[in-house]
Order: sequence, then structure tokens, then C-alpha cells
Amino acid sequence: MDKVLVTGGLGFIGSHTVVELQNEGYEVVIIDDLSNSSAEVLEGIEAITGIRPLFEQIDLKEKLDVENFFVRHSDIKGVIHFAASKAVGESVKEPLLYYENNISTLVYVLKELKKLPSAAFIFSSSCTVYGQADELPITENAPVKAAESPYGNTKQIGEEIIKDTCKIAPNLKAIALRYFNPIGAHKSVKIGELPIGVPQNLVPFITQTAIGLRDELSIFGDDYPTPDGTCIRDYIHVVDLAKAHVIALGRLLQGKNKSNYETFNLGTGKGSSVLEVVKSFEKVSGKKLNYKIVGRREGDIISAYADTNKANDDLGWKTELSLDEAMRSAWEWEQKVRG
Ligand code: WQD
Repeated sequence: MDKVLVTGGLGFIGSHTVVELQNEGYEVVIIDDLSNSSAEVLEGIEAITGIRPLFEQIDLKEKLDVENFFVRHSDIKGVIHFAASKAVGESVKEPLLYYENNISTLVYVLKELKKLPSAAFIFSSSCTVYGQADELPITENAPVKAAESPYGNTKQIGEEIIKDTCKIAPNLKAIALRYFNPIGAHKSVKIGELPIGVPQNLVPFITQTAIGLRDELSIFGDDYPTPDGTCIRDYIHVVDLAKAHVIALGRLLQGKNKSNYETFNLGTGKGSSVLEVVKSFEKVSGKKLNYKIVGRREGDIISAYADTNKANDDLGWKTELSLDEAMRSAWEWEQKVRG
């Protein structure tokens, strides 16, 4: 089976995607700089699939190291590129760190792919490129709006770089996958989300509050123009998301792509409010969550959820796992890690 590079493969979405790639029979090599992950994740992946992926600790900002990697692995057929910094708030404080890390690494990887006889490239993008969309649900034709953060801007710029490269490199074909809100953990409880420090995202903050690591959840505003006043998002189980990557890669390797640069929204198509996520957690865990309503968070959009028709029709993929299943798996993982 084909050999595939997964950059950032020890991270949250990366590790779940490595599992699904191995389940599909791919030979996987991981590059990770361990800046926001741990090599112990390799044990978790092997415990699930019985196969320990090849792993090289490389900083993709080191151009020569990237070149040498591709000399040693010239048989790579595809790359799934997760490696990037992804904290919205941090990106506002450290824009140059984000532009250097998220853009230079992408350029160096693409430069090597251009040299190969043919290459398939899957890019980890985000619904953040849409900002607050004017129409809901959000389709792939929704206008890309001025980014609300340097992090979001690196995703927009990244898509443009890939599109421009695919135009002049007939051997390169790419798909940008625009994630909505990934949550949950593998049912084996061997891998999951491992936020470092105080979690910025909702679901890890909920589970860390329930396990006693945080005193209470602050809900950022309940005065939005939504049914219960809290913001709405499309929370997608990370395993469903991982499976979409394998399908997208197969689409390119089997030449099923309609053009050599495509984009797909990856969501459930259903919006859930913050309070609905809290209620789902309380239902599946049997625990009352300690929370308080505070002021709005700067930069938050009111509502976002995906129009999934293109992914359903063209990728032949749709989500199978519910919000409750995602919250249950997140809770089981939290108890395993902190219990
Ligand atoms: C979800 C909702 C918060 C924490 C971000 C990135 C996006 C993607 C996913 C990378 C919002 C509320 C949150 C808390 C809260 N990341 N909230 N209390 O902001 O939709 O998306 O993460 O690709 O690009 O922008 O996710 O989980 O931070 O927030 O009330 O302690 O939960 O206000 O309404 P977000 P989130």
C-alpha cells in the first residue's frame, strides 16, 4: 500500500488520522516537532492498530531537514499536513511566530512535493476562513472573509499558496479540508486531545472542570441572537473527521478529483449551542457541570455550522457519530488521563 507522510501526526487530529490510515493499510511516516504533542502518542496508536508508525522528530522550519527527509523517503505518495500552531488567542499575541511556523513549513513541504513524479496533498484548513458567514449552513462557496486572527489568516494564506502551486505543478493535486469544531476521542481511550496548559477550546475545558482540574467553566456570553443566547458551532467527532482525511487522500491517489485543487467543509451539518454541549456532557457523564455566564469573548462569531452536501456527494463521506458520543468519549479520555 502507498506510503504517506503525516506532519503533526502526534497531535489530536493527526494521531486519529494515522489510526484510520493504518486501518486502511497505508504505510505511515510521521513528522512531528513535539512542540505541542508527546512521543507517547505512538504507544497509543500502536495499541489500537498493532502497527507502530515510523516517526521522525523534525522541525519543518528547518529547510535542509525537510529536503533530507524527502531524499530518504522518495517513495512518499501523499502528505497530510497538520503541522501548525493553532491557538487563536496566542496568534494575536505572537503573529510572527504563527506566520513563520504555519507558512514557511507549508512552503518547504510543497517545494519537495513539486519534485516528485506525482503527489497528493491534504491540507488541514478551518471554517475560521469564513468568519461570521452571511448565510447558514455554510457552503464551500461562502466568501472567505478578512481573517479575525493571524491563525485564521495563515489558513487563508495557506490555501492560496496551495492553489497557486497546483496551477503550475501538474504533478501536484490537493484538497483543503475546512474543519468545523473537532471534539471527542478514539473509543479505545488510547488517544485523545492533550491540550497543554489552560484549554482555550470548550470541550477540554468542560472535561477538565468535571474532573476537578478547573474550578468552573466560564460561558462567554448568553446574550447572542440565538435560541438560548449562547454561540452555536458544528461539533464534529474527531474520528469522523479522521476518516474524511483517508477518503480525501484516496480520492486524489485514485484520480477521482474533479480539479487539482478542491475544498470541502467537514462538519455534521448541525449547530449546537454552548449550553446544549454542556447539557450533552451532563447527560452522558451523569455529572452536574459547574459553570457561570460571563462576558463575550473577543472575536467570537455568533453561529457556524456546515452545509455538508459537497462532502456527502463528492467525497461520499458523512459523519456517523453524535454529539453525545463525542462528549462521552471526551469524558472517558479525560478520566483516563487525569483519573
Ligand atoms: C466554542 C464556543 C466560545 C471556551 C476555535 C478556532 C477554530 C478551531 C476550533 C482550529 C464559543 C465558547 C469556549 C470556554 C466558552 N480551531 N467557549 N468557554 O472558537 O469555535 O473555534 O477552535 O482549527 O479555528 O477558532 O472553538 O471551542 O474555543 O469555542 O464559552 O472556556 O465555546 O465562546 O462560542 P471556536 P472554542
